Amino acid sequence: MNTQTDIAIADRQLGGTLMELRNITLRFGGVEAIKNISFDIREGEIRAIIGPNGAGKSSMLNVISGFYVPQEGEVWFRGERRGPVKPYEVARLGIARTFQNIALFDGMSVLDNIMTGRLHRMKAGFLSQALWWGPAEREEIENRAQVERIIDFLEIQNIRKTPVGRLPYGLKKRVELARALAAEPQLLLLDEPMAGMNVEEKEDMSRFVLDVNDEFGTTIALIEHDMGVVMDLSDRVVVMDYGRKIGDGSPDEVRNNQEVIDAYLGVAHD
Ligand SMILES: Nc1ncnc2c1ncn2[C@@H]1O[C@H](COP(=O)(O)OP(=O)(O)OP(=O)(O)O)[C@@H](O)[C@H]1O
Ligand SMILES: [Mg+2]
Repeated sequence: MNTQTDIAIADRQLGGTLMELRNITLRFGGVEAIKNISFDIREGEIRAIIGPNGAGKSSMLNVISGFYVPQEGEVWFRGERRGPVKPYEVARLGIARTFQNIALFDGMSVLDNIMTGRLHRMKAGFLSQALWWGPAEREEIENRAQVERIIDFLEIQNIRKTPVGRLPYGLKKRVELARALAAEPQLLLLDEPMAGMNVEEKEDMSRFVLDVNDEFGTTIALIEHDMGVVMDLSDRVVVMDYGRKIGDGSPDEVRNNQEVIDAYLGVAHD
């Protein structure tokens, strides 16, 4: 898009290593979805994962989130080797995500959907709520306040009471981002956040992704097919093809990599 953004990103300093994937291999029966891939994610960066359909991108995001445990290789997070994690532990580790196919509760309001992003922070359990309302009430107020901040940030005040099922697609995607942000993640994983959007919706979402990264300092790993978006947003790009890593570097390095051009950039896709 504009060169000013490019320069700002080019000038940015990358932080220390937040996550390191070492020699990851993931199989589904006979299918090798990820073949011996290594790369890292640095603190504060926007790291894109690109590649043709079926390349293994979503599988890789699922390994990063801890949803899939690879048969081979090691996942290092914040300087420690991470073992298997239970789904409810992922949010506590500081990782939140959105899905390639939107996963929201259609019958619930925007506000309530976003609140579900804070479930893991609700320490005051059922008993304290029933017997001693003090801490539970304070917690509720804090949770509400944080959710309201996110609603303001993503400019969705006017739909906060609307059931999610009634929203157009682009806004659903934004609500899903809001729910992920409600968890106050250190690492945010976005699986095709702009898929199916029109140009205007894509521009809005791009701006929000940049703002989240900028204002909250959130590290972001994102899968995206729109190369304009990828080149504009990301600090570094991993390119996958048939489960292998065929490129890794700055947007410019990747754009000029012949293997990447042959496998992905040179062909039409959406
Ligand atoms: N749960 C699963 N069980 C069996 N095979 C799977 C599973 N998930 C993914 N695969 C296979 O692994 C390979 C990689 O799939 P993946 O969804 O990771 O690709 P992708 O790069 O995200 O593709 P797309 O761009 O279409 O979303 C594909 O061959 C897919 O069929
Ligand atoms: Mg996918």
